[in-house]
Formats: sequence, structure tokens, C-alpha cells
Amino acid sequence: KILILDFGSQVTQLIARRVREAHVYCEIHPNDVSDDFIRSFGAKGIILSGSHASTYEDAELRAPQAVWDSKVPVLGICYGMFTMTVQQGGEVEPAHEREFGYAEVRAHGHTRLLDGIEDFITPEGHGMLKVWMSHGDKVTKLPPGFSLMASTGNCPIAGIADESRGYYGVQFHPEVTHTVQGKALLERFVLNIAGAKADWIMTDHVEEAVKRIREQVGDEEVILGLSGGVDSSVAAALIHRAIGDQLTCVFVDHGLLRLDEGKMVMEMFAGRLHAKVVHVDASAQFLGHLAGVTDPEQKRKIIGREFVEVFKAEAAKLKAGDGGHKGAQWLAQGTIYPDVVESGGAKTKKATTIKSHHNVGGLPEQLGLKLLEPLRDLFKDEVRELGVALGLPPEMVYRHPFPGPGLGVRILGEVKKEYADLLRRADAIFIEELRNWTDSATGKNWYELTSQAFTVFLPVKSVGVMGDGRTYDYVVALRAVQTSDFMTADWAELPYGLLKKVSGRIINEVRGINRVTYDVSSKPPATIEWE
Ligand code: XMP
Repeated sequence: KILILDFGSQVTQLIARRVREAHVYCEIHPNDVSDDFIRSFGAKGIILSGSHASTYEDAELRAPQAVWDSKVPVLGICYGMFTMTVQQGGEVEPAHEREFGYAEVRAHGHTRLLDGIEDFITPEGHGMLKVWMSHGDKVTKLPPGFSLMASTGNCPIAGIADESRGYYGVQFHPEVTHTVQGKALLERFVLNIAGAKADWIMTDHVEEAVKRIREQVGDEEVILGLSGGVDSSVAAALIHRAIGDQLTCVFVDHGLLRLDEGKMVMEMFAGRLHAKVVHVDASAQFLGHLAGVTDPEQKRKIIGREFVEVFKAEAAKLKAGDGGHKGAQWLAQGTIYPDVVESGGAKTKKATTIKSHHNVGGLPEQLGLKLLEPLRDLFKDEVRELGVALGLPPEMVYRHPFPGPGLGVRILGEVKKEYADLLRRADAIFIEELRNWTDSATGKNWYELTSQAFTVFLPVKSVGVMGDGRTYDYVVALRAVQTSDFMTADWAELPYGLLKKVSGRIINEVRGINRVTYDVSSKPPATIEWE
């Protein structure tokens, strides 16, 4: 196993993720763990992370002596390289600002770490790596026993190596994807240099996480808001695996869910997993508060507020306990690592992020509950893998994202039950056909080939003709986009045949809709949702 010592970088979790991708078990611990801890950990290799600030002069930010005494390979990344240099007797020139940027690094010599993994070779025969570089402090004198491993134009010492001890330092960040060969480099370190075994798989993570949850919770009870989304579903399945009936899920149906969604969630969690699920049908309450409201932000606010109200009321009941139960002490949430980073929580480690489909910040405090977040260290794709390892169906785990306010922002203007019912049926047809339509070039279906696809209800009527009669019915728009980060998105070039089939089915099967359009706007300037 690999030990990662965290000096406070925002991207330390990415190092762990890359190591896990190499199927090697790793743990992140703060840089100031004790020598005893390091000795008993028994790492095959140690990685020293970067640091968020230029803190070269902070003498506390050092690797414990046991790191060097343990005689295992060490990789220092950015700040990790600086502390390695200083602790091994070299010199670093401090700077007070740090910035990141693209750079081309030239490899020197044939080190075990970099040899053969360059991006290109210059006419002079130098191996070159395209990296994400951190500019700031600089190594100015190599420690005894070290040689130059890499350099750039304005950073003569961008990598150092002591091959005899397996010590390597790089000023760039191999953990970020901008460093093209970063994954290969980290793999090289953990597998070839440290000699760690590539035998870690997601099911191992289930065991570890289950053990941790049991230790944390003991015999106390936990409440979790289940939305049907990926994160809360995986969190629920994991916690249920760990503590069974000590977990109660609360599923709030606001009446703006997709077709049969409530039924599916109940079948999966209450039916198949035998988890305790309280199903709250609050649709009348939500729709009541939304009546007459047309402004999108206003609608979001109302849905978010009502959600918190309903959830709080249920949680308070569960907290109070009853005859056999002493009451819940924990609120579980499906917070995943990117949520933690967004809130700045990764830096302070203290900030707690509230992940739910609405921003319910402060809920654990208001309810006087402790917070349980078992997915906090994982990235989205790892959460999905974990879900599959827990036995959740892939269709559930690999679902497109669905906004918290649900169909509330996919019905333009005022939300009415009649509109929601029409939209649900049209949308289910669209999704079903996307799943059915396979692209011959890739062998994937169009649901997999799009990042998000849905139907939007337009509360306007247009004229049509059906059989012998004239119709005057509503319009829907189909929306399908491809994106990697949801910040920018392209509309998907769905096959005409697929669009034709979807449109035909919706108009024939959903009485009340007589026109289907396809949205050909990209983001920006349009957004993915229509509201
Ligand atoms: P836009 O429409 O801003 O959407 O391009 C980007 C992504 O965010 C989702 N989205 C939301 N998710 N609550 C959510 O939980 C919301 O109010 C909300 N608005 C948009 C949207 O579905 C897309 O994936």
C-alpha cells in the first residue's frame, strides 16, 4: 500500500484517485503524523503532496523523519519536492506567490521514473513531457546523492532523482489530467519503483467503508434524504450494507419526478435491499405553493424551501424516536469529493458541505444531528463504480443528472399537475428510445452517448391535424447534450431516424401534445435546462 502525506494541496485527492486507478490501495494522512504512525503503516512507497500556499518557510510543513528512515521510495510533488530537497540537504529559493500553467519539461538522463514515458522527442533526442507546472519556489541546489531529472526553460531544476534510494521530486503535478503522462508517471512510481501490488478493487473499498461507518456510528441511528439521484442512492446502499436497520431513508416526492421514479426508488430500496424507507408524498403541498408562480428563480426557491420543510419535519420525528427506538443522531449525505472542493472544504477540512438536490446548508446543525458523509473522498465515476459493486443496477448508477427542482424547471412558467403528467410521459418515451437506439460505429446506445437528455414542456398551443380532425395542443422540446463538465455543452447530433421515432410516438401516445421540436442550441449562449 501507498501512503500519501498531505501538505494541504487542493489536488491531493487526485493523487489518491490516480493511485486507485492503478489498483493500488492508498491512504491520505496529514503531513504531521507521528514517526510511529509511519513505521506501523508499512507503506511500500510514500508520496508527498503539494501545498496550497507557498509555505516554504513554515518549518512545520516537513515530512516526518520516519519517512526517510523507512527506506522506501518517496515521490515529492511540487511542495513535496521542496521539502524533500531541504530535508535531504539541498537548497530551495522561496517565492511568495505560486501559479500554475502549461509547460514542456525536458527529461534528463534515463531515470526509472521518466524513461520512455515522454510525450514527444525533440530533434536533438530529448524526451519531452507536457505538464501542468507550478511556478513559485525553486530548487537551487541539489541535495547530495541527487541528480537532475527534468528542467524547463525558466525552471532549470524541475525534477530531481536519487535512483539508489528511489527518491524522486517533480515540480509539476502528475495528478492532474493536464499533465498528459501524469497517470503513467504515478503508475510507474507505485508499481515499478515502490513495487506495490495492483490488487485493489472497488469491492475492497466497500469493505473498508463499511468498517469505517460501523466504527463511526456504533449502535446509533442514521437518517438519509434519498432523492433517487446517484450520490444519495449509493450512500444509502453503502450505509445500509454497514448498519442495516439503523438507517432510515426519507424519500420526499415533490410531484416533479420522472415517470415511475418514486415507484422505482421504493422497489429498489424498500423492496430489494429491505432498507427502511419513509415515502413522503408531498406533491399536493409542492404544487399548491407553486400555483400561479412563473418566475424560474422563484420556483426554485419555493421547491428548495418546501423540501427542507418536509424533510425537517420527518427528520424531527425520527430524531425523537419512539417505543423501540432511541432516535436518530446522524444525518447522512451523499456529498462527493467535487462538492467538497467547490465549497472550499478541501482546504480547511472543517467546512461541511451539504449535498442534497437543494442547497440545505445548515440542516445538520438545525436538527442537532452529526453528519455522516461516506462518499466524501470519491469522484463521481468512483461513486458509480462503488454503486455497481454494492449491487445497484447500472441503469440507476449511470443515469444522467437530474436537477433537484425536477420537472419544476422543465415546465416553462407556471407548474401544473396536468403539464407535469404530460411531460412525464413524453420524457419517458424519449429516454426509452435513446436507450433503444444503438450507434453502429461505437456499439453504444444514444443514452450512453449523451450526457444529459430530457424533454421540456412549452405551455403554448399550436394547430395540428390528426385523422380527420384539427387539434390545438401543447408543444414539447427535446433536449440532448454532450459535455464533460456541464459548464459548456454541445447539442447532440441525434440520428434523424431516432428523432422521427420519438416524435411519432409522443404525438401518437401522449394525447394533449401535437408538436415536437428539437433544441439545437449549445451552451453557451443557451443553458442546458430551459429555466
Ligand atoms: P444549466 O441549465 O445551468 O445546467 O446549463 C447545468 C447542469 O446543472 C443542472 N441544474 C441543476 N441541478 N438544481 C440542481 O440540482 C438546480 O436548480 C439546477 N439547475 C440546473 C442541469 O440539469 C445541468 O446538469
